[in-house]
Amino acid sequence: MVEKIVVGRDRDDLKKYGELGTAFLGKHIVGKGEDAHLTNPVMMDVTRPHVMLVCGKRGSGKSYSAGIVSEEIAALPEEIRSNLSVIMFDTMGIYWSMKNPNEKDKEILKEWEIKPEGLPIQLFVPKGYASDYEEAGVVYDSTFNLVCSELAAEDWVLTFGFSFVDEYGTTIERVIKSLKKSKGGYSIQDIINSIENDKRSEQKVKDALINRFAAADSWGIFSEKGTKMEDLIKPGTISVLDISHYMQISTAWSVRSMLVGLLSRKIYHARSMARKAEELEMMTGESRQTMPMVWIMIDEAHQFLPSDGQTAATEPLLTLVKQGREPGISLLFITQRPNKLHEDALAQSDIILAHRLTAEADLTALRGIMQTYMLDDIQEYINALPRKKGTAIVLDDNSERIYPIQCRPRKSWHAGGSPTAMREVSVLG
Ligand SMILES: Nc1ncnc2c1ncn2[C@@H]1O[C@H](COP(=O)(O)OP(=O)(O)OP(=O)(O)O)[C@@H](O)[C@H]1O
Ligand SMILES: [Mg+2]
Repeated sequence: MVEKIVVGRDRDDLKKYGELGTAFLGKHIVGKGEDAHLTNPVMMDVTRPHVMLVCGKRGSGKSYSAGIVSEEIAALPEEIRSNLSVIMFDTMGIYWSMKNPNEKDKEILKEWEIKPEGLPIQLFVPKGYASDYEEAGVVYDSTFNLVCSELAAEDWVLTFGFSFVDEYGTTIERVIKSLKKSKGGYSIQDIINSIENDKRSEQKVKDALINRFAAADSWGIFSEKGTKMEDLIKPGTISVLDISHYMQISTAWSVRSMLVGLLSRKIYHARSMARKAEELEMMTGESRQTMPMVWIMIDEAHQFLPSDGQTAATEPLLTLVKQGREPGISLLFITQRPNKLHEDALAQSDIILAHRLTAEADLTALRGIMQTYMLDDIQEYINALPRKKGTAIVLDDNSERIYPIQCRPRKSWHAGGSPTAMREVSVLG
């Protein structure tokens, strides 16, 4: 039997579990150019908390690869799978297609001896956009909502792009603070009313703020009852949150950041509580209902956790990056530009899947993460990759090794390919 390469797993776990609970990413590429061939399967641990970075140029296979990790988690043996869950923040609106088998790549799948197979993902869409999906014929499973009163004043200030010291920011802070004190739950309309009645700010400031909050109401994500964490984080389930909307508004990324930020905070809280219950279970032997560990996957991660500046998701995501190990939260960040991602996210990454990258600054960013490697090495490995979709290098912090790999083809349909003007080649030919 061909030996398997396992990344992201330390020696003790390797001894104890072997390759149990790992994800099959692809095959090791040995040799260069014409001589390159695929050898040992490369497996990645998914049972311990990780921070994984998936990077590469446009169209190099990043979103596709994140889908592979989801597929692999969904295919784990029941007793492992039921302790895990996945939440994919889908910024491009591409992962809904995972419900369908990948008939498109049937031929490649045959070479890999993999069968096309749809995945039973749970697709969540913003409540206010549900009818758009119905019109397009996309079947969704649930809508997601946020509760307006769960957001802090800072979240609004950051989302609207104000500062904490200008009069817009200070008015928001004053209004939200007094609402939090006087009312348990409040709506956007309550915020608007409070701004109107605020005696301390100028009319010009009030008008601008009312405009913003009225616009927020039209995002279609707020309601009295929020999405329950136990619906989002279910044992063995892949939840896809389509946050690709809001394209028409200039604040699209800040609205998404607000969403990612609030949900990340809630996931952290839910898992911290679950972790306590798990510890108690271990101590007393009494079984308790808990929530599975979570893999949070974020496409275009540099938009949420940028190297420069702050978004409404910055603080909650940094908490997960720094303290997510204890409550069992893994992160998978996808970005075209590792150099633009917050340095703490880079520094904490223990598994890197780097598809083709050319910008010097991005290569240097990778080298910065894993000091053990020489920049020349990383560059050389990337340059030597066969120019095929889905080739990448894996940097493993555990073994301190680099593996060039060909990622496996997907079982489920990937909707992220570029469209071509030659849809019906047979008609042309
Ligand atoms: N492992 C693979 N095997 C076969 N084809 C692949 C593989 N990875 C990617 N591809 C092909 O490459 C296309 C682009 O991949 P993907 O959508 O993941 O790019 P991306 O890196 O996320 O790009 P962007 O930065 O524009 O989001 C896919 O639609 C698919 O056809
Ligand atoms: Mg992509």
